[in-house]
Amino acid sequence: MTLILKTDPYRPDPEIIKKAAQVLLSGGTVVFPTETVYGLGAVVFNEAAVAKIFWAKMRPPDNPLIIHVSSLEMLNEVATNIPEEAFKLIRVFWPGPLTLILPRNPRVPKIVTGGLETVAVRMPAHPVALELIKEVSQPVAAPSANLAGKPSPTRAEHVIKDLYGRVDVIIDAGDTLYGVESTIVNILTKPPSLLRPGAYPVELVEEVLSTKVHIPDFARGLTEASLALAPGMKYKHYAPETPVILVELVGGDLGLLVERVISIATAELNKSRKVCIVASRETLKEYSELALKGAVVLDIGSRANLYEVAKNLFGTLRLLDELSCDVAVVEGFEEKGLGLTIMNRLRKASLRRVTQ
Ligand code: TXA
Ligand code: MG
Repeated sequence: MTLILKTDPYRPDPEIIKKAAQVLLSGGTVVFPTETVYGLGAVVFNEAAVAKIFWAKMRPPDNPLIIHVSSLEMLNEVATNIPEEAFKLIRVFWPGPLTLILPRNPRVPKIVTGGLETVAVRMPAHPVALELIKEVSQPVAAPSANLAGKPSPTRAEHVIKDLYGRVDVIIDAGDTLYGVESTIVNILTKPPSLLRPGAYPVELVEEVLSTKVHIPDFARGLTEASLALAPGMKYKHYAPETPVILVELVGGDLGLLVERVISIATAELNKSRKVCIVASRETLKEYSELALKGAVVLDIGSRANLYEVAKNLFGTLRLLDELSCDVAVVEGFEEKGLGLTIMNRLRKASLRRVTQ
């Protein structure tokens, strides 16, 4: 049985927070909103409770969880030997969507870290998440609250679809703010490296650290790795049932991008397939002729406001399945700022990439 509790995102109902905290403290699982996506939480130090997270999501055991804290004292309960660079970032970005890789405090059960000697930690900025962790007074492990491999949930309906009956509580506080997950940075390497681009553009992190951050190919969504160090490196991620063809933006040429989308979509329409086109606001009207031929054209947001695109991203991927599209042709974005985050998710969600 899953209990659904509704609350205002900005003024969390204290009774609901108390109730959810009790469930966590008695070894249960609670889905709660964060400023990025919804998370599926359990108390870090309760191994049996953490095991329920892996079971509910059907997550492979070697894919580690992010630990959520509400204070620096709590940070010290899960990490040790924290380097000064970490505090530089913490001072600027916490609470907020930045996850740091730090040496593991031996108190943290290995089930949380997938056997690694490091932990991934962040302090979320969402009032509901913060109040809940404060009430529990213990760090909370929480991956995104979707079934493994599916797009992350940005509203309670997405969670209900994936996890109803598999978790104890779902706190519904409406849409999350950013719509994409936290940025994961490993400051234990020299230079620091980006494990997952996220809601904070990596350029901001570089500014605060006054150094370039290494961006491996897997962080761009281009390759797979043998270790599950960041989502999608090893396992399928963010993928809807609908096969996605991603048409990348090459050399910033929007005209060329539109031309390719049209030719691919036309070929699919000619095979009598239900085609969905996911386009930016700027290029939407270019597909009006295809719409007359039966293509469904979805607006993912403006290229001039990538926060809007990021916020709509996972909802749009889920919508493709709801519309029963046979195939989706999706426009790519420039890999700058949040564009890197968006392209990482789109590449991992796609079955095929068109790059020229
Ligand atoms: O915004 C977010 O970060 C959301 C919300 C709920 O806070 N959480 C989230 O968790 O995206 P999840 O499980 O979907 O992604 C966690 C990823 C793992 O897939 C893993 O790759 C990486 O964080 N991770 C966790 N621990 C790690 C570690 N010790 N070293 C390297 N990567 C780690
Ligand atoms: Mg996830």
